[in-house]
Amino acid sequence: MNYLGIHKDNLAPVVSELNTLLANYQVYYQNLRSFHWHIEGQNFFELHEIFEDLYNDAKVKIDEIAERVLTLRHYPMSNLADYLDHSDIRESRSLVADDEMIKVTLENHQKIIQAMRRVIDAADAAGDEGTIDMVGGFLADIEKRSWMLDAWRSKKFASAMM
Ligand SMILES: [Fe+2]
Repeated sequence: MNYLGIHKDNLAPVVSELNTLLANYQVYYQNLRSFHWHIEGQNFFELHEIFEDLYNDAKVKIDEIAERVLTLRHYPMSNLADYLDHSDIRESRSLVADDEMIKVTLENHQKIIQAMRRVIDAADAAGDEGTIDMVGGFLADIEKRSWMLDAWRSKKFASAMM
């Protein structure tokens, strides 16, 4: 038992999934910075700001995930090479079209959502409710942000009015 009352061995799978989530978040964060810098066209003002809002949110969550790993008395992954190695999200390159950026962001969200669900499953098996509570909150938040991006891409009203 550690000072949280959870056996250290039971936490190993939780920490492993938290580190995978962290790796995904770091690559996602850099993709968002890239989109923030490379956005051009008629939606510049709107999307330049949206990508900034998303990466600032990701920055906060990255720190919370890493510090959750520390709270469990393990160490967070902290090298870029390791992040790239463990992330399901790949670096985005040479994207210019704004709707392509939103599409890729939504795909990145899907990978993060899957990684969050794996964390919750592992934490559930370990009886680690603190992790479930934290990541569960993040999950609902990224689901809501995904809805907004999906709504931005939706052409329902535009086509109905034509
Ligand atoms: Fe900026």
